[in-house]
Amino acid sequence: MELEKAVRERRSVRQFKKEQVPEQVIREILEGARWAPSWGNTQPWEFCVITGQSLETIKKTNRQRVMDGVAPAPDISMPQEWPDQMKARYMGIGKSVLTALNIERDDKEGRTRYNADMFYLFDAPCLIVVVQDKGVTSNYRLLDIGLILQTICLLAHDRGLGTCIMACAVGYPDVLRNVAKIPESKTVVMGVAVGYPDLDAPINRFKRTRADVEDFVTWVE
Ligand SMILES: Cc1cc2nc3c(=O)[nH]c(=O)nc-3n(C[C@H](O)[C@H](O)[C@H](O)COP(=O)(O)O)c2cc1C
Repeated sequence: MELEKAVRERRSVRQFKKEQVPEQVIREILEGARWAPSWGNTQPWEFCVITGQSLETIKKTNRQRVMDGVAPAPDISMPQEWPDQMKARYMGIGKSVLTALNIERDDKEGRTRYNADMFYLFDAPCLIVVVQDKGVTSNYRLLDIGLILQTICLLAHDRGLGTCIMACAVGYPDVLRNVAKIPESKTVVMGVAVGYPDLDAPINRFKRTRADVEDFVTWVE
């Protein structure tokens, strides 16, 4: 697939087919993604690929926690405050998703169900979790993780897979630690849900938006 097409077409997938992703395909994606750049070639990432019964346990436990009202406690806290413009964009994506699902803004029950579904990882058949040694303290480490995650998403898209980078996937890191045997010495950074996308699902089809280049670039000669 042409690179620019892949970059423009990739989108967060929030409904997957039941079909399993062969381990070999994930392996090929990670083989390619390891060529992502990193500060000083430090490659400050480790991955855990979770499928099958282990993933089912994680999904169910996460969903139950949401239904029980247990507050997420990720290793890296989610942003709470944004400048107004970013907040508007954040609200915008939430609105697009709920509209695609026909969930009204004041439908509290529907929103809780959606949130639980999200923590159920949209029933994706595969979860890639990225962890980092707690000894790595520079903010550069997160730049590096971002680079490899996008590379993973593009390589997955190239193979007809859908992905969703998910903060929710690491909202309850103790669950991941228990099931996937991730030691306390590692920070659980982020998760990527992977599976074959249901391309007909409205939640995978709504129009996405981006700022215009002129809105975020200053040209200096
Ligand atoms: C660090 C990070 C965390 C994210 N966490 C979630 C999440 O928990 N749930 C979700 O539905 N989408 C999540 N997303 C997806 C974003 O909402 C999505 O990338 C954004 O709206 C842009 O849309 P696109 O990926 O379809 O282009 C996350 C994206 C990033 C980069």
